[in-house]
Amino acid sequence: MPTTIIEPFRIHSVEPIRMTTAEERRAALVAAGWNLFALRGEDVLIDLLTDSGTGAMSSEQWAGIQRGDESYAGSPSWFRFEAAVRTLFPYRHVIPTHQGRAAERILLGALAGPGSVVPNNTHFDTTRANTEATGAEAVDLVIPEGLEPALDHPFKGDMDVERLDALLTARRPDVPCVIVTVTNNSGGGQPVSLANLREVRAVCDRHGVPLFLDACRFAENAWFIREREPGQQDRDVADIVRDMAACAHGMTMSAKKDGLANIGGWLAVDDDELAERCRTQLILTEGFPTYGGLAGRDLDAIAQGLREVVDHDYLRYRVRSTAYVAEGIARAGVPVLKPAGGHAVYLDARALLPHVPPLEYPGQALATALYEAGGIRSCEIGTVMFGRRPDGSEHPAPLELVRLAIPRRTYTQSHMDYVVEVVAEVAADAERLRGLRITSEPPALRHFTARFEPLGGPARD
Ligand code: F0G
Repeated sequence: MPTTIIEPFRIHSVEPIRMTTAEERRAALVAAGWNLFALRGEDVLIDLLTDSGTGAMSSEQWAGIQRGDESYAGSPSWFRFEAAVRTLFPYRHVIPTHQGRAAERILLGALAGPGSVVPNNTHFDTTRANTEATGAEAVDLVIPEGLEPALDHPFKGDMDVERLDALLTARRPDVPCVIVTVTNNSGGGQPVSLANLREVRAVCDRHGVPLFLDACRFAENAWFIREREPGQQDRDVADIVRDMAACAHGMTMSAKKDGLANIGGWLAVDDDELAERCRTQLILTEGFPTYGGLAGRDLDAIAQGLREVVDHDYLRYRVRSTAYVAEGIARAGVPVLKPAGGHAVYLDARALLPHVPPLEYPGQALATALYEAGGIRSCEIGTVMFGRRPDGSEHPAPLELVRLAIPRRTYTQSHMDYVVEVVAEVAADAERLRGLRITSEPPALRHFTARFEPLGGPARD
């Protein structure tokens, strides 16, 4: 039987990629203040900045776009969306939002505030920022293995249950909720096991604290559970997803990831009173509760995406093709976070550039070099993203990673072979790379808009 895992789709329409030279890319970098978020999309050859909203929709999703009904209230699209969400996540209340962070802001705004503390396995940047924006403290409690890039472990996204218990014992009145991020994006796209979710839920129950999932990549997480967790091998992924959902009291979701859509999200909760408060806020800032800032057509695209994302052939291809990139990069001797995540491959910039200190941003140095060498846009997940405290002080982040996030159903294997080649080429010359200095930055979420200047040295002078 053939063992090659193929893309379980054919290509229906194509977007041209604009070829650029290294000189053009160098000029684009200078104009962008060495911040890859400031580049123009058409100056990028392979865009691995994010897997969020950048995937290709299926012909059935485009058909859903046509079917979309734009009734302000009670649109048929809304009912199809709600039913599709509740098939996988049977929470009592589903509250649509324009994307994940809107759901986070509404939930955390309703629950957290000055003096409170919110534990997560690892907060994603917007989740951390939305927590801190309420005046609360965001605490990351991933298991210690989750902070060791070179260590192989099946569920590096698991939460450290003992530390969670200790935090809740010490500060129960200050903890409005616990959040588990599946998969753990900032920790390398690593999955959380069902066993861990159940233990976390047991601790939450003991202390009487609600548990929420940050469920952006729930299907990839469920596929890893099916592949790696004892006793899960013969199960339908949709059933595993429902088991994950049953561990929590609600969820926030970005449909731009495992909704297979270009925009959208939702908040879902069981608690009637909390739902009421969240809907009131929703009407103020997002829209009426049957569209929540989305067009009816978006709701239909998401409803169809949720059916496709739990398809086993799709998930097998998705997870295998990400691992393929990680294996190619590792074979070239480049330090890569192990095991490969579901949606991304993470280069370990600290290990590759030991001569660049954290406050000279080794991840940013590597990410900008990949762009210059091959037009690949990646994303630093390190001290640029997480190194600034709310009081303005700076400290090294626990990991210095460069994330190559792979848009869903978008690039082919030869695109990925090219990526592996460029990474290997840049890494072969790693000792020539120099760090950067920040020349301007906003008070929060600085990685989006900060400007940089390369530090002196032979490579960038
Ligand atoms: N939670 C996680 C774990 C995420 O990865 C993201 C987005 C969000 C919440 C926010 O969702 O973008 O729809 O508002 N992550 C994207 C990324 C942006 O590139 O990883 P959003």
